Amino acid sequence: MPRFESIISRIVILHVVAVVITSILMSVGLSWLLSYATNNIHDKAMQEQANAVAEHLSLSPDGHLELNLPSDLRGLYSQEYGRYSYAVIDDQGRVLFSSLKDRAALFRADGRSADVAFLQQRRGNATVSGASVRKTVGDRNVWVQAGEDLTNRDVLTDDIVADFYKNVGWITLPILLVLLITDIAIFRRALRPLRQASEIAAEIGPARPGLRLPTEEIPREVRPLVSAVNQGLDRLEEAFKVQRDFTADAAHELRTPLSILRTRIDFLEDQETRQALRQNVEGMAHIISQLLDIAELDALAIEPSEKADLQSVAAEVAEFVAPLALAQGKDVALYGTTEPVWVKGNPEMLSRAIRNLAENAINHTPPGSTVEFLVENGGTVSVLDHGPGIPEDERKLIFRRFWRRDRRKAGSTGLGLSIVQRIAELHSATITVENRRPHGACFSLKFVPLK
Ligand SMILES: Nc1ncnc2c1ncn2[C@@H]1O[C@H](COP(=O)(O)OP(=O)(O)O)[C@@H](O)[C@H]1O
Ligand SMILES: [Mg+2]
Repeated sequence: MPRFESIISRIVILHVVAVVITSILMSVGLSWLLSYATNNIHDKAMQEQANAVAEHLSLSPDGHLELNLPSDLRGLYSQEYGRYSYAVIDDQGRVLFSSLKDRAALFRADGRSADVAFLQQRRGNATVSGASVRKTVGDRNVWVQAGEDLTNRDVLTDDIVADFYKNVGWITLPILLVLLITDIAIFRRALRPLRQASEIAAEIGPARPGLRLPTEEIPREVRPLVSAVNQGLDRLEEAFKVQRDFTADAAHELRTPLSILRTRIDFLEDQETRQALRQNVEGMAHIISQLLDIAELDALAIEPSEKADLQSVAAEVAEFVAPLALAQGKDVALYGTTEPVWVKGNPEMLSRAIRNLAENAINHTPPGSTVEFLVENGGTVSVLDHGPGIPEDERKLIFRRFWRRDRRKAGSTGLGLSIVQRIAELHSATITVENRRPHGACFSLKFVPLK
């Protein structure tokens, strides 16, 4: 199972990782910088102290070196204060002067080669860090060492360095969180056109094959995908059209041989054969006209402005099919409202749908019974009969093209209800089937009423 499927959740995860790593690196880096800076300051200060001590070195008339520190400096290097110390050594490594109790040098490796050296040495529990500076007094080279006991070092600088981790963390975290939130907002914005394109894509289907995804606002990175999908849709639409045209052309082409066949049958001597063949030819003509209907409906789109009066359409159909019913000893009746019922749609299409339902009802209702048309104000028209009804397990099948219960029945194509369903689809109407008690079917079409 792929984790973090959404891009935003991926961004959040990667961002959190980045936030953590950046916080750590920044605190480490900055605290290193700070301690480098403080050490630098310390080194400079020690060098200055060594210089200051060196200023008070002088050569006595008998050739001895003397160190006369003023009282403030003496206080600075006193044992009581204990923080700073100095020592002066000569080129033999002898200690000439020292502020330490044992008169020792501060640094063993005194760096007597360099002019200035920064050194560090442990003494007992303490670490002394400082500088060694070369000086020339008269004709003698001496090294003045000045150091600071790090255990007594300035508390303030130490505190800053120690607190740095915490402080930097607190500063970087909110900044990076703000960045994260901004990123998410930017991303959501960038993805919005994709969401809109998805909504349009959901509408694409046989009823609206001409729809295409908008490319204008799509992010450049995704645009090739969207264009490719659109080109795919172009090809599908083209193939769809070829298919549809083929059905229409085939049905059309069949009409001429069929009418020749009709004329030939009319010249037949045998009355009985002639009658039977005529029926077969009418069945074929029915199939062809329904195929043409289907091909036409596949290409059709309903204008949003079209409207129809469901009541008068139903009344016309009832009138149209009445002779057919009467010829089979069946009756037709119209119920419901007598007021116009305006719905969105094409009157010719509605009429075709209701006629198909009516023909089915007349075919299935037993002689002596009545097929009823019921028109309701909400935009519903129902056709009811007293036939066998539709078993539960056939209610989806009956709308399939070419599906019929009895394949041997003359004039049965299985196309009628698929035409009805297609018309319903084009009108955003719903079609429902119910059985009646004690027997019979009730087909209802619910259209979108006009306010
Ligand atoms: N009113 C009805 N009562 C019972 N069965 C029906 C009714 N209407 C349709 N059917 C069943 O649904 C099948 C498909 O109907 P339809 O698509 O109109 O095709 P056709 O009428 O050409 O058979 C019919 O063959 C029939 O078995
Ligand atoms: Mg039918």
